[in-house]
Amino acid sequence: MFGKIKDYNIEDNVVNIKFENINAKIEIINSYIVNFFVPTLREKRKSKAIEDLKVEKCEFKVINKDLYIEIKTNDLSVRVYDDFKTDIYNKDEKLICEDYRGDREPFIKNCAGRLDIAIQEGHKPTEHMDYKVFIPKKLKEEMYFYGFGERTGHLNKKGCHYINWNTDDPTPHGETYEKLYKSIPFFITLEDKEAFGIFFDNTFETHFDLGKENSNYYYFASLDGNIDYYFIYGPSVDKVIKGYTYLTGSTPLPQLWTLGYQQCRWAYCPESNVMEVVNKFREKDIPCDALYLDIEYMDDFRVFTWDKNKFKNSKKMIENLKKDGFKLVTIIDPGVKVDKGYSIYDEGLKNGYFATDKNGITYTNWVWPGNSVFPDFMNSKVRNWWSNNQKILLDDGVAGVWNDMNEPASFNGPLPDDIKFNEDGDILDHKEIHNVYGHMMSKATYEGIKKHTNKRPFVITRACYSGTQKYSTVWTGDNQSTWEHLRMSVPMLMNLGLSGMSFCGTDVGGFGYDATSELLSRWVQVGAFTPLFRNHTTIYSRDQEPWAFDKKTEDIYRKYVKLRYKLLPYIYDTFYRGESNGLPLIRPLLLHYQNDEKTYEINDQFLCGENIMVAPILEQGKKARMVYLPNGSRWVDYWTKEVYEGGRYIIKETPLDICPIYIKSGSIIPNFPGMNYIGEKEIDTLILDIYLDENNFEYIHYQDDGESFEYKDGKYNLYKISIDNKNEININIDFIIDKYGAKYNKFIFNINSSKYNKVIINKKEIHGAKIDNTMSFEYDLK
Ligand code: GLC
Repeated sequence: MFGKIKDYNIEDNVVNIKFENINAKIEIINSYIVNFFVPTLREKRKSKAIEDLKVEKCEFKVINKDLYIEIKTNDLSVRVYDDFKTDIYNKDEKLICEDYRGDREPFIKNCAGRLDIAIQEGHKPTEHMDYKVFIPKKLKEEMYFYGFGERTGHLNKKGCHYINWNTDDPTPHGETYEKLYKSIPFFITLEDKEAFGIFFDNTFETHFDLGKENSNYYYFASLDGNIDYYFIYGPSVDKVIKGYTYLTGSTPLPQLWTLGYQQCRWAYCPESNVMEVVNKFREKDIPCDALYLDIEYMDDFRVFTWDKNKFKNSKKMIENLKKDGFKLVTIIDPGVKVDKGYSIYDEGLKNGYFATDKNGITYTNWVWPGNSVFPDFMNSKVRNWWSNNQKILLDDGVAGVWNDMNEPASFNGPLPDDIKFNEDGDILDHKEIHNVYGHMMSKATYEGIKKHTNKRPFVITRACYSGTQKYSTVWTGDNQSTWEHLRMSVPMLMNLGLSGMSFCGTDVGGFGYDATSELLSRWVQVGAFTPLFRNHTTIYSRDQEPWAFDKKTEDIYRKYVKLRYKLLPYIYDTFYRGESNGLPLIRPLLLHYQNDEKTYEINDQFLCGENIMVAPILEQGKKARMVYLPNGSRWVDYWTKEVYEGGRYIIKETPLDICPIYIKSGSIIPNFPGMNYIGEKEIDTLILDIYLDENNFEYIHYQDDGESFEYKDGKYNLYKISIDNKNEININIDFIIDKYGAKYNKFIFNINSSKYNKVIINKKEIHGAKIDNTMSFEYDLK
């Protein structure tokens, strides 16, 4: 297709290469990120994920060799051959990413030419497709693949095939599902302990085949669009994530309450039902920060309206909820009911805000409100209008907006490929924008909330594309109340985290089908450590609130929700750091233990931040499990405080109320005192759980107002807590930054397995009290 290299030239950071048939551009973004671009559709890049491509000035050399052109940065060398075959070497001249030169050879299926017979029964055979863009790379035996956003199956994606085409499929998601609600065309490869990532920024239907088609190659491909991909070198996995979020943006620090516990159901209504549920939380002493209203709160599913029969005075209701410490989050779908006299429809129609067919006629399909039209979120005027519509909810006191059905879902068949969207003058087909529809809707929602509240917006979306993390949290759509789905949620969330989507969660307890007491008891143990901690279920399922089963389930539920609230400062600290390093809260073990290959395929354990490891129970009836303790650290059992050497497997007994949790030794885990919700009382005490190690260690703790953007102007505190335990325990608390007024008055140090009954804190000798295996010391900062 490309032909031979004819010529090349250099313009700033771009090397333009002229082939016989087409030109390509290789852009050096920085010493470890390189973009490969070929205008197979259009000359200009149209990225929705990367809004502000920052190209760093960096040194690179271009050398014309006989067979190839070599581009060398301080970290990489890229060799470009005829036909745009490219190989990438690290700085030690080791080949790390090699284009595949052989022919495409899909696996054979012997179906005797009678696939039609299987299709009749409803089977869905996989297809080998022809692609417009097809980039095959050589697959090596010891390669591992991670990322790809929200996927069923295992953590390592080798041998799988995935499609990016945002899809609402409410049947029980299984390992064979190649597409779900989200499109994140990004992955990380690990081979020989060295990692790199590839981000294929193409919004058409894209495919990733990781050696399923043929074990000699893996590929990424698309039905249309440009060749436009970024190679991001590690060699550490965290550096690849940093590079990916450098391009597409990181998850901004959320409001603190959004990390608390949230309760949802399709559907809490009328108002009396809402009040009944929230009162139960306080009565039962189970902390909770937010309640959700699903589609039933609207007037016949008209977005931005209230059903006045069910909710007489929404504003008043929300005020009452606030008094009791509850925030309200309401659902908003994109489908606007076709209904003359309904202001949103009338306004949108008058201004041409809805997508049209190829003849310019407003396109309709069927969703909850019946016949509906679809806002053209590609258009900045429409996004602005949608942003302003958020005010209708915000004026009532709504605290967050839940964007659903934005694949977009449609009940009367899919939207045809050629439905038209107007990107400020450029007419684009549905097939190009489908995968970014939810992304653009979330962006509009985010901007509306930001403009009208000036607080960090809380948006939750089902569909997304790379980069949506800047605007919204995500949940994994309609899972089921089954053990299989609980199991699947762990690698799914870990891969979402590796794909830049730090703020993510599943419906705790499961959405479809009916939970059992045991399943809910185990699910809350995972949920307590996942970024978005929300229990949600469908309209036809049994109740799933913490108290819906029996006392034992309720007690277990309370225990883990309370644990979550204790850990909030640790979780918030991790989010604070994530805004600059891109790292998620829920992490596969390999992220911090890349040198320990035993971590590469662990699907059923995860790290929560850097210092807490969770090994949840994901099977019915399981009363013990094997836990792998990664090499390179010692690990402390959170419940018994026993200390284990890393690099081995242990067996942990797991009665129903025990989720195995291990703390890395040499850690400080900050805790908040007990509370029912964020903002209930001023938090003037910070509790620090110290897990000693032979070496000195430290921890940086972040504090701000938990809601505004003032932290961007430097109004926050950073405490450095350092532990020196050579001969005695010396603790120092220093401010690195102290620009936020409300500081803690008191610190409580709980030192695990301490042999000392006194410590020196900021040069002052303090005597402690022993509780179980732990010595407790109080230090008054004033
Ligand atoms: C979709 C959503 C689900 C929601 C339901 C009704 O199925 O995924 O969370 O409850 O629609 O709005």
